[in-house]
Amino acid sequence: MCGIIGYTGNREAGSILADALELLEYRGYDSAGIALSKKDGVQVIKCAGRVKELRKRMQEAKTDAVCGMGHTRWATHGGVSDVNAHPHRFGAVTVIHNGIIENYQELTEKYGLNGKLVSQTDSEVVAAMLSHYYQNDPYAAIRKTVLKLKGTFALAVMFDDIPGKIFAIRNVSPIVAAKIDGGAVFSSDVAALSAYTDRYFVLPEFHIACFGKEGIELYDLSGEAAEPEYMTVDWDTSRSDKGGYPFFMEKEIMEQPAVIRETIQTYLKDGVPDFSEGQIPDSVFRECKRICVIACGTAMHAGLVGKSLIQSMIGIHVDVVMASEFMYNDPVVDPDTLVLAISQSGETIDTLEALKFAKKCGATCISVVNVKGSSIAVNSKYVIYTCAGPEIAVASTKAYTTQLAVLYLLTARMAMARNLWDGARLEGYISELVRVPMVVEEVLERKDEIHHLAGSMLGAKDVFMIGRGLDYSILLEGSLKLKEVSYIHSEAYASGELKHGTIALITRETPVLAVVTQEKLKSKELSNIKEVQSRGAKVILLIKGEDLPKEDYSFEQIFKLPRMEDEFMVIPTSVVLQLLAYYVSADKGLDVDKPRNLAKVVTVE
Ligand code: AGP
Repeated sequence: MCGIIGYTGNREAGSILADALELLEYRGYDSAGIALSKKDGVQVIKCAGRVKELRKRMQEAKTDAVCGMGHTRWATHGGVSDVNAHPHRFGAVTVIHNGIIENYQELTEKYGLNGKLVSQTDSEVVAAMLSHYYQNDPYAAIRKTVLKLKGTFALAVMFDDIPGKIFAIRNVSPIVAAKIDGGAVFSSDVAALSAYTDRYFVLPEFHIACFGKEGIELYDLSGEAAEPEYMTVDWDTSRSDKGGYPFFMEKEIMEQPAVIRETIQTYLKDGVPDFSEGQIPDSVFRECKRICVIACGTAMHAGLVGKSLIQSMIGIHVDVVMASEFMYNDPVVDPDTLVLAISQSGETIDTLEALKFAKKCGATCISVVNVKGSSIAVNSKYVIYTCAGPEIAVASTKAYTTQLAVLYLLTARMAMARNLWDGARLEGYISELVRVPMVVEEVLERKDEIHHLAGSMLGAKDVFMIGRGLDYSILLEGSLKLKEVSYIHSEAYASGELKHGTIALITRETPVLAVVTQEKLKSKELSNIKEVQSRGAKVILLIKGEDLPKEDYSFEQIFKLPRMEDEFMVIPTSVVLQLLAYYVSADKGLDVDKPRNLAKVVTVE
């Protein structure tokens, strides 16, 4: 978590840093700060709260430097306070840090820092160690320090007596960088560089970069010069602003027809799914005996849909495992296992660690990620990129539906590799998949109707969501969405499971959202709806097409979903659930894009 930005060039750094920090706030927004390199030393301005607060503090100070670094924090060690905000200074050294120094207590003892540190953070210890080792050689000080650190870090460092230069090094936590006219920029995320360049490189782990007016110097820890490997951002950078919408979440929901279409078209060649550009041979799909999906949160929910598709259409056993639990449950993963690591950011540490573990077990790993060159992508044998573009809102929407698009394509490619489908079946499947973006457009055109549905949940303390099979998988995601952006307690239940306990919670005050899109499950789903209605629940029904039950069910509200083949109902239905959560949050007057306690990129275990 935490966002880092650095700039050296010809322009006034303060406002550049503040603008970038606002873009990076999705990575953490507990506090913000900057350090400016001046001829007479380093000026630090920092405070608890958002970048808005920081800007106020900056107005009160003189910030006329052309070299500086900034940080936006998601608190781990030490509460949310001015003193715990980054940058941290110790002696003549100033540091910003993203990640966790696991052995900071041991280091505090070892370097006699008790009583000398002013914050409660693990990061200040790094500043103190750098100060301890610094004797006019920044590279030696950085090398000696990082070799003693356990944990993950992206560090940017300034030395008072080296004006105009910023040094950076990382382990696991990301830093991307680029040379620009008259200087250089670096950040935790490409989105913050896009105002300056569309060419960037990922700072290799344990390499020291020095950013100055002349550009970037890069060395490995033995002092050997290294060459950065530049990549091109192929994102439309206009996707990094709100484009007239009040919140990124709404904008990103609205972008879905375009990005789903782009994802599908990227991997369709001559009308069939084709992953040969990512060099994935069909043998990978043909020879695996089981599949294991590792992911967190929304990405894991995408995996659950993938499991249903693959198990029902290909007949291979699929496990979906929370990445944070993966290693601790003795997973059965071996060279016959195909591991799919799904992640928007490509930086989620739980998923990354699970992936590394799976690799050690000999599994073949494909990652489905959105961010090019991210750690999960780099650590996977094969990568399939989703084409969602930058996703800024903490609540994931377009990343989820593009992950689903990839999973639909993978399922079809697997069927081809195993000779399971005839031409007609493949053609029918692909033509329905290609129709998805259009159907999503239809749903989005009915946003006012969905806004009206949201009214039924606005005052609720708890919301239950019920469905079976694929409908249940979608509801797990719909429920997460509602919880995280509206703060309403919500649970998704497989509707057949309700009567084994949970039904005790159903009262007249509890809205129950029921989803019915799967023909083979419909009659059972309708019976389960009757059960909660008999206990007074007000049911909001999302149902495929005109398939309304004949009997009188007296629903609170009904939304008729556009018709698709059952297995393709997932994406249009999910979009309705995203909009529902969005409208509840916006109508409650909440900060939709930055829900409390959260951060977009979770780089701590
Ligand atoms: C969902 O809205 C959340 N932002 C969260 O669950 C997220 O999907 C999860 O943290 C995984 O992130 P990743 O896709 O970047 O790995």
